[in-house]
Amino acid sequence: MADFKLPANSIVKTGKTFDAPEGATRVKTFKIYRYDASNGKNPSVDTYTIDLDKCGPMILDALIKIKSEIDPTLSFRRSCREGICGSCAMNIDGSNTLACTMAIEDVSGDIKVYPLPHQPVVKDLVSDLDNFYKQYEAVQPWMQADSIPAGGRERLQTKEDRDLLDGSYECIMCACCSTSCPSYWWNSDEYLGPAALLAAYRWIVDSRDDKTDERLAALDDPFKLYRCHTIMNCATVCPKGLNPAQAIADTKKMLVQRNL
Ligand code: SF4
Ligand code: SF4
Ligand code: FES
Repeated sequence: MADFKLPANSIVKTGKTFDAPEGATRVKTFKIYRYDASNGKNPSVDTYTIDLDKCGPMILDALIKIKSEIDPTLSFRRSCREGICGSCAMNIDGSNTLACTMAIEDVSGDIKVYPLPHQPVVKDLVSDLDNFYKQYEAVQPWMQADSIPAGGRERLQTKEDRDLLDGSYECIMCACCSTSCPSYWWNSDEYLGPAALLAAYRWIVDSRDDKTDERLAALDDPFKLYRCHTIMNCATVCPKGLNPAQAIADTKKMLVQRNL
């Protein structure tokens, strides 16, 4: 897994400490970022040591245990707890990933848990992803077809055309990739980022969509697409094993062909 160690941040001070329960023999310590945008106080890192014999195996299990049994003020997103909804994306031990699919035993030493990097924080591990979702909306991620399908029924695809969607339709919009991308960190107001660009690619290559040219033209911009410098963090962190960098490179090639 990629290693994006967060720089030491002098304004993140040590916060509260919650020790392991008496008698616990197999324990793990979590150092969790705490911040509340509504009160404007500086962030802190709270320390929770839990009894692993009374906790499920995943990082998300530990967070749920901490919230349920130790500190109900801790905030984080989660829903499916099986890597499908994308809502539990956060920075764990220096890498963006899903808390529900990462095992506690896979991290040695204390486990540092931070929100996704370079996004405004609403509270604790909850990032403000408004800009991320606006960028997704901007690529119009739905089928646009003017033609009437043959026989007035469903739009058919060859097996080969359907295969072109593999590697892009599986995206769960968790934002692990975009928030690990240095180009996105510095230009997220104009660069669409790997997640939105993978979504754009998914519709560009869909044989049932009639707006391929318009979709390509909309990306032909020095910032929206060309801020990708093939640093590859996106492909390294994607918890679904996808490769947005390859999709971005293929989109650039299609644009070259289109503009010949
Ligand atoms: S390959 Fe492109 S999109 Fe992926 S991390 Fe690098 S600059 Fe960002
Ligand atoms: S490409 Fe991967 S990391 Fe990026 S949003 Fe989709 S599932 Fe998450
Ligand atoms: S809770 Fe849905 S992906 Fe983790």
